[in-house]
Amino acid sequence: MNYLEYYGLNMEPFSNAPDTRFYYNSAQHSKALTRLMFAVETMKGLAVLIGDIGMGKTTLARRMLDNLPEEEYEAALLVIIHQRITPDWLLRRIAIQLGVERPASDKITLLTQLYDRLMQLYEKKKKAVVLIDEAQMLKSAELMEEFRGLLNLETPERKLITFVFFGLPDIEEALKLDEPLAQRVALKYRLELFNEESTEAYVKHRLRYAGAKRDLFTPKALQAIHRYSRGVPRTINTLCDNSLFEGFLLKQEIVDENVVNNIATDLGLIETGKIIQKGLSTETSGYSKEGEPRSQKHPPQVIEKEAPQKAKKEEETGDKEIDEILSKIGG
Ligand SMILES: Nc1ncnc2c1ncn2[C@@H]1O[C@H](COP(=O)(O)OP(=O)(O)OP(=O)(O)O)[C@@H](O)[C@H]1O
Ligand SMILES: [Mg+2]
Repeated sequence: MNYLEYYGLNMEPFSNAPDTRFYYNSAQHSKALTRLMFAVETMKGLAVLIGDIGMGKTTLARRMLDNLPEEEYEAALLVIIHQRITPDWLLRRIAIQLGVERPASDKITLLTQLYDRLMQLYEKKKKAVVLIDEAQMLKSAELMEEFRGLLNLETPERKLITFVFFGLPDIEEALKLDEPLAQRVALKYRLELFNEESTEAYVKHRLRYAGAKRDLFTPKALQAIHRYSRGVPRTINTLCDNSLFEGFLLKQEIVDENVVNNIATDLGLIETGKIIQKGLSTETSGYSKEGEPRSQKHPPQVIEKEAPQKAKKEEETGDKEIDEILSKIGG
């Protein structure tokens, strides 16, 4: 018998994949989503969502993409996983994602194609929205300038394209590279940590979705999970996943706070009686069955894709292709 069977679960409840099926609309995520949806509905141009490591930015970006009805939006999600991307590459990807057929290789023609496509969408009363995850990687003034150029495309009524940047707090540095772009940020919101109530509801939500028919953590264990994780979802997952496994080994039908304390110590979340203030990122744990080391999560390559839900536009770029692209575009 494995731990899933022991606890009556159909699937792993605390996998560290940004799986939208497990999405929990916490007060913190809901507030952020309401504001970001408002920004795209009114085509504000540029909105920014900031959040520390593991707070749920990618999960939110995917959720948002799912929330944008296809009849109203031409929407795409672009994930930047390398700082070496060039303005030409970026422009080309945006053009492809927004449906420009046969994008030209010279920039002026490409810009014209993109403008024509945006006007075509505008006439069809569709809003062009590009969500950019890991936007803190856009660390060059040239890239920022490119965004500014696109944000200048507008009709008297509204902008032709809206971007939403999702990123770590260093995104502020990237924005500072182009002061006029920084000024164009119409909405900026910071994803908050879960409070104790949200942490508890989040844990129970994931357990229920995975098939649990009863509580699997004591109230004190839940309090401990909140205390050690400080309300960071990825850390909550790692703590819960390991605590359940340990609980199973100890044959605890309901996991108590001693188990959580021990796991928090093993994960390095407690140091000489103090809770470590930095959120656990899975790169340092080396413990969770799920958590991949961050060095693997952020390989030295450019990957750009959409959430799997929007399979029609999904595009995975393999290592070899990336090298080819980079060499072609001089990256
Ligand atoms: N609202 C939520 N509902 C369900 N799961 C969530 C939620 N927010 C975060 N998670 C879970 O927490 C983990 C981390 O979330 P995510 O990858 O979205 O964080 P992130 O802010 O993008 O992290 P990073 O800074 O490393 O990019 C994921 O496993 C995800 O499933
Ligand atoms: Mg992320």
